[in-house]
Amino acid sequence: MRFQDKVVIVTGGASGLGEATALEFAKEGAKVVIADLSEKGQGYSEELNAQGYDTIFVQTNVAKEDDVKNLLSKTVEKYGKLDVMVANAGINIEADLHELDFDKWQKVIDVNLTSVYLSDKYAIEQFLKQGNGGVIVNTGSIHSLVARNGLTAYSASKGGVKMLTQQVASRYSKEGIRANAIAPGYIETPLMNTLSQDVIDSLVGLHPMGRLGKPVEVAKTVLFLASDDASFISGAILPIDGGYTAV
Ligand SMILES: NC(=O)c1ccc[n+]([C@@H]2O[C@H](COP(=O)([O-])OP(=O)(O)OC[C@H]3O[C@@H](n4cnc5c(N)ncnc54)[C@H](O)[C@@H]3O)[C@@H](O)[C@H]2O)c1
Repeated sequence: MRFQDKVVIVTGGASGLGEATALEFAKEGAKVVIADLSEKGQGYSEELNAQGYDTIFVQTNVAKEDDVKNLLSKTVEKYGKLDVMVANAGINIEADLHELDFDKWQKVIDVNLTSVYLSDKYAIEQFLKQGNGGVIVNTGSIHSLVARNGLTAYSASKGGVKMLTQQVASRYSKEGIRANAIAPGYIETPLMNTLSQDVIDSLVGLHPMGRLGKPVEVAKTVLFLASDDASFISGAILPIDGGYTAV
């Protein structure tokens, strides 16, 4: 049990990649705080606890500073500390730049990038108080690294996640804090419901492995980066993409 008695926050933990990640951490002995805007997180937390795991749900809009502060204080109130922050919540709104309304741009930047700033900031504040390091795993995307038409705000936000992660790694390594980002390719989650079947079929063709990824494949990579097995890895952005960005 690699995460016995470790306290882990997973934002966006009620669905998709966050849901799978919360489960994998729970299976490895962690106390998991599921943070999500959706109340589905409450039911999911109860479901996990009924299986003998130790989780709580804290309803959180990760784009709002007061909500993220509340998330940290509820976590410390319940479990006394924080060991791992997984800043994973995110959304996609597609439009080419000349057709992208300002409010949609702002929303994607708020939920995908400002949220990571807030989650990392308050996690680091807690890590520094505790004085024995900590681990951050931010969810980027292959679109932190390569563009695709229509993903204007999304790619910009995920590119920002990459550099914010490197910035954290650079500044806080001396305090024993590691920060890495994952760069998933297209994974079978509800976020994919925003895309048409034709688009999904064409995306499959962009992955040399000829398939989309599964949430558990991402979750297991997050656990690796959060674990002591990754003790000398910081500032990395790790593709989990069936070869998409290799081509
Ligand atoms: N699915 C993919 O193919 C894929 C690929 C690369 C990166 N990602 C990234 O992975 C992350 C998770 O995506 P997913 O596919 O699991 O999506 P999902 O839609 O299944 O889950 C996202 C979760 O985030 C929550 N959320 C949305 N806005 C929020 C907010 N403001 N505050 C708190 N929670 C909020 C949603 O309620 C949902 O539970 C995102 O950052 C996404 O960009 C996904």
